[in-house]
This record gives sequence, structure tokens and C-alpha cells, in this order.
Amino acid sequence: TKQKLWGGRFTGKTDPLMHEFNQSLRYDQRMWAADIAGSIAYAKALNLAGILTKDEQEKIVQGLTAVGQEWEQGVFDIQPDDEDIHTANERRLSELIGPLGGKLHTGRSRNDQVATDMRLWLLTEIKHVVRGLKGLIRVMVERADKEKDILLPGYTHLQRGQPIRWSHLLLSHAFSFRADLERLSQLIPRISVLPLGCGALAGNPFVVDREFLAKELGFSSVAENSLYGVGDRDFIVEFMMWASLAMTHVSRMAEDLIIYSTAEFGFVTLSDAYSTGSSIMPQKKNPDSLELLRGKSGRVFGDMAGFLMTLKGLPSTYNKDLQEDKEPLFDSYDTVSASFKIAEGVIATMEVHAEKMREALTMDVLATDLADYLVRKGIPFRETHHISGRAVALAESRKCQLNDLSLEDYKQLSDKFSEDVQSVFDFEASVERRESIGGTSRKMIERQVSVLRTALEQM
Ligand code: ARG
Repeated sequence: TKQKLWGGRFTGKTDPLMHEFNQSLRYDQRMWAADIAGSIAYAKALNLAGILTKDEQEKIVQGLTAVGQEWEQGVFDIQPDDEDIHTANERRLSELIGPLGGKLHTGRSRNDQVATDMRLWLLTEIKHVVRGLKGLIRVMVERADKEKDILLPGYTHLQRGQPIRWSHLLLSHAFSFRADLERLSQLIPRISVLPLGCGALAGNPFVVDREFLAKELGFSSVAENSLYGVGDRDFIVEFMMWASLAMTHVSRMAEDLIIYSTAEFGFVTLSDAYSTGSSIMPQKKNPDSLELLRGKSGRVFGDMAGFLMTLKGLPSTYNKDLQEDKEPLFDSYDTVSASFKIAEGVIATMEVHAEKMREALTMDVLATDLADYLVRKGIPFRETHHISGRAVALAESRKCQLNDLSLEDYKQLSDKFSEDVQSVFDFEASVERRESIGGTSRKMIERQVSVLRTALEQM
């Protein structure tokens, strides 16, 4: 009769529902490649430690390679007793090479094995996240570079504030994403700490060369404390914190575009490819892609918060609660990956309505410029702010625009006004004055584009 891997001390059977409850293979099989790689490295280390002969090592490595090929080709035959990816692979290895397979786990525990697999999996997959995020930034930068001529109001409190270039707004989000790219790369050294060789908790009694293992598996360091090595999941928390913040940026950008795609704004139109209709209202074209991006941010934050909750009361080292690290990690990973692709597609294909943006530029967004005009004539800003405010109020009471007030009206407000006040009422001139670094002038947009392009090349 077949025995569970750990069945020696057991006489009773596992409750069928408990068996289900305990199984993680359904989701941890996606780490099969990391598990095989970890085992191949470990077999080599066991040879160096004198536990396996060269011949035994080679047979085990061949067997493991064959198991990997079965996963790769989608023909790995999962058995009911395969509890997780580690037991499944070991079971299959022994089927292929016989009792020798039973030597592989010498000095190793699933505790150091699973922690190693998770880190190795994440290190490999993070490269795809980086690529996805770069793709998104690239599309934003290219679009911003082409659409520098388009002006619109910049908003604070969703109230019109000052004129800006459309590219400036787009790039503001791109800079958040650049910071995300930077933060992601800063996680890597902390993910790249090898637990393998920590054993169940106390360390490895066969003196396997852990630095050799780290080199074989591409890790940059080894866990210096075995209890820490098997019990630490901070790298997963950190990735999910990273994902939560990156998704917050996706969500805020989505929110801007949702507002701008309303008929009331009419600044952008999403392509059909990223919109859906209503089952009852024939006229509807809804920005579902953007709403999902905004919604998914909550989901990723939930993955992080849920797992932190799982961790917070755990005693040291390995506890089975830690098996709950996988689904939130995979879910966050899958969600950010898909979100970057969708966001890239939305940005690449949406239509921007320059004339609608221009129409939204009412003269009151030049009230700051009007105050600045008087500053240049020597009046302290706190006074000019008031004078400009009175001009706004006067125009409002006459139901006209700031540039409809006469020179006499202006002279009533301050004797420093002269004919050249009309030069204030020029949106292009206003944005061009913002020519300090970070401003919305054409040159500063060009600078931002080039800073981001360089970052994309270097990161
Ligand atoms: N499937 C387990 C997990 O994901 C592997 C480690 C099991 N270790 C143990 N001692 N039960 O965490």
C-alpha cells in the first residue's frame, strides 16, 4: 500500500476533506521549474558533501530533468497523494530512477525547499514584470513626445487651476512608474537570499556548501540564520507592497482618464478594443478597462493585507500557515502583469481631443499669471493675489472673461496695469513661462522625455 512521504509514524488515514484542504499542488505546480532547479543544485551539493557518488548524482539529475520535461510538455501525471510540488516531483523521480531517488532529500526539508522555490520563482518572474512596466512607460513617453502641442487645464481639487501641456500630465504618471521600476529593482537583493541548506530549521548536518548552492542557483547571498531562512516571507510581503503601490499609480491614472472620457469632459475617447457596451442602453460605451484597473488595485492591496494578517502572529520558523503565501503572491503577480499590459494598450490606442481640451481653457486659469504680471511690476505677490482675485470677481459679476475687462477696469484695480496686460491672456505664453526644471514648458517636456528614455535604457 502506498504511503505518504511522511507516513511512517501514522496509523490512521487522513480525513478526505483534510487531504483536500492540505493540498497545494493545484497552485504551487507553477513553481515546478524552480523546484527542479533547486533539487538539481542540491544533488550536486550532496555529491560535493560526499553523500552521493558522482554516478548517483548524475542519475538523479537525469531523473529530475526528465520530470521537468514532463511538466514542460504538460504530461506530468498528477497522483491523488501528491500533496504539493515538492512531494509530486520527488514521487515521480523515484518512479523513474528507483530507490536512489530517496537519497535526494538527505539533510533537506520542504521548509528550506519551499522557501527556496518561492524566491527562485519570484526572481525569475520579476523580469517579466519589469518588461511589462517598461512597455507601459515607453508608450506613455512616445505619446507625450508627439502630443506636446496640446494644452488643457491642470486641475487641483478637480477645479481648473493653471494651463499645462497634455504631455506634462501623461509624464507625471510615467514618473510614478519610473519610481516603481526603481523600487522593484531594489527588492531583488533581498529576494536573492538563499534558504536552501537551512534544513527543517536548525541547519544542514551534512555540511553542504551553501555558497556553492547560491552560485548554482544564481542567488546573491545565503540566509545566515537557518530559523530565519525557513521562516522568512518578507520578500513576498515586499513584492505585494510594491505591487499595491504600483497598482495605486495605475488606479490614479485610470481615474484621470475615466473622468476625461466622460461626455462632460470629452478630452479622450477610449478605443473600442478597451471599452464595452451596456446590455440595455444602446448608446453606452463604458471605460471598463480603466474601471477594472482601478478596481484591481483594491484586490492587490487585499492580497498584501491578507497575507500580512496571516504572518503577524506566527511563531518562529515554518508553520503551515505559510503555505498561504502562494495564492496572494501569484494573484498579485498575475494582476499587475495583466494590468500593465491593459494600461499600455489603453494609452496606446485612445484618442485625445485637443480641441475639447482647449475649450476647457477658460481665462480664469490665467489668474495666477495675472498676479505674476503685477509681481513683475514690483508689487508683492500677496497683494497681487488679491488684485487678481478682484479682477476674477469683477469678470464673474459681469459674466465675462478676464480678457474682456477694459484697461480702465484694470487701472481701477491697480495703477500698475497698462496695455501690455493683454499679453497675459495667452495660454501658450503661460505654459512657456514654466521653464524651470519640472515645469510644463516645451523644453521641460523634452527634458522629461529624455530623462525617461535614458531611464528605460538603463534599468
Ligand atoms: N506545501 C508547503 C508550503 O507551501 C511546503 C512546505 C511543507 N512543509 C512542512 N513541514 N509541512 O508551505
